[in-house]
Amino acid sequence: MLRLFGSAALVAFATGAIASPVADPMVTASPTLAKRATSCTFSGSNGASSASASQKACATIVLSAVAVPSGTTLDLSDLADDTTVIFEGETTWGYKEWEGPLLQISGNGITVKGASGATLNPDGARWWDGEGGNGGKTKPKFFAAHDLSDSSITDVKILNTPVQAVSVNGCDGLTITDMTIDSSAGDSGGGHNTDGFDIGSSSNVVINGAKVYNQDDCVAVNSGTDITFSGGLCSGGHGLSIGSVGGRSDNTVDTVSFTDSEVTKSVQGIRIKASSGDTGTIKGVTYSGITLSSISKYGVLIEQNYDGGDLHGDPGTGIPITDLTVKNISGSGAVSSSGYNIVIVCGSGACSDWTWDSVSVTGGKDYGSCQNVPSVATCDV
Ligand SMILES: *[C@@H]1O[C@H](CO)[C@@H](O)[C@H](O)[C@H]1NC(C)=O
Repeated sequence: MLRLFGSAALVAFATGAIASPVADPMVTASPTLAKRATSCTFSGSNGASSASASQKACATIVLSAVAVPSGTTLDLSDLADDTTVIFEGETTWGYKEWEGPLLQISGNGITVKGASGATLNPDGARWWDGEGGNGGKTKPKFFAAHDLSDSSITDVKILNTPVQAVSVNGCDGLTITDMTIDSSAGDSGGGHNTDGFDIGSSSNVVINGAKVYNQDDCVAVNSGTDITFSGGLCSGGHGLSIGSVGGRSDNTVDTVSFTDSEVTKSVQGIRIKASSGDTGTIKGVTYSGITLSSISKYGVLIEQNYDGGDLHGDPGTGIPITDLTVKNISGSGAVSSSGYNIVIVCGSGACSDWTWDSVSVTGGKDYGSCQNVPSVATCDV
């Protein structure tokens, strides 16, 4: 039966040549033939709109050197269950000042893969002005990986995002393996707020083997349950972060692990940010097997007095940090001499049941103003 969807139809998709890409190859099929074409390939400047229009009709969607027009989303948010999406060659986006996202993928049982040598390249340098999301040009967010369940994203390489790279939100069961986000050109080129992974309101998320070169949080978990980041490399940014927690629609962080990862050439290594005047929960966070090097400001920063900036005013007690484990942190000589090794500022009784073991972070200064530090931990090294 698949002959019905033979090479002619697929070539038509591939060239983007058909006038109405919504034409469904199954229109003549009997109910027993109401199966999806096995594979559809889209490319060029019509590729994104054709792929969006046909997304429910294809079991496998190959995006081959797609050039997404300016001001539009490569929108795969209405995929049928168990669809495979494969990026081939270089995917590009046109320039426009807008909010984005430039790419959006949602669904159940979705498999996303980057083929060998494939890149997703929004050429963010066109937007970079040193202001990120705080002003200047309106910059599109890159990838909304939202509402994915039992899905995986493997071997995807992203280059030079205009601002935040990957937003994981509303997901339950998402494994991201060997993703590279390389916005390192922004170090000298005006990249700002180029977060690697921002995670919210999601559960059962595993990010394994990621490499992130950027100018803001490598990973920021703002809310969620059962999130693991492991075997990763973070370079150039703000390290492995929880939060900021507080003042959002979801303010619960529960069971998050950062393990066996390296943070280098970064402003912070490990950071937990709780807003001082808000309520929420930060429970069951683990940092284990983290190697720090070339940290300019804070090796480890745990604060309950975040107000958009670090260490402002009195710490609050509305977002307790409990069941925190920080162990096997290697950072001898990692912090610059003008930075601080370990900073812990907690509200009274708001940090409890911590495990703190083999934390060696040196090179910088003692902060001198730590507050309510649980007895197992210390700011003095
Ligand atoms: C400490 O972390 C490093 C880096 O991830 C790892 O290689 C080592 O096995 C860990 N040591 C222990 C005792 O867990």
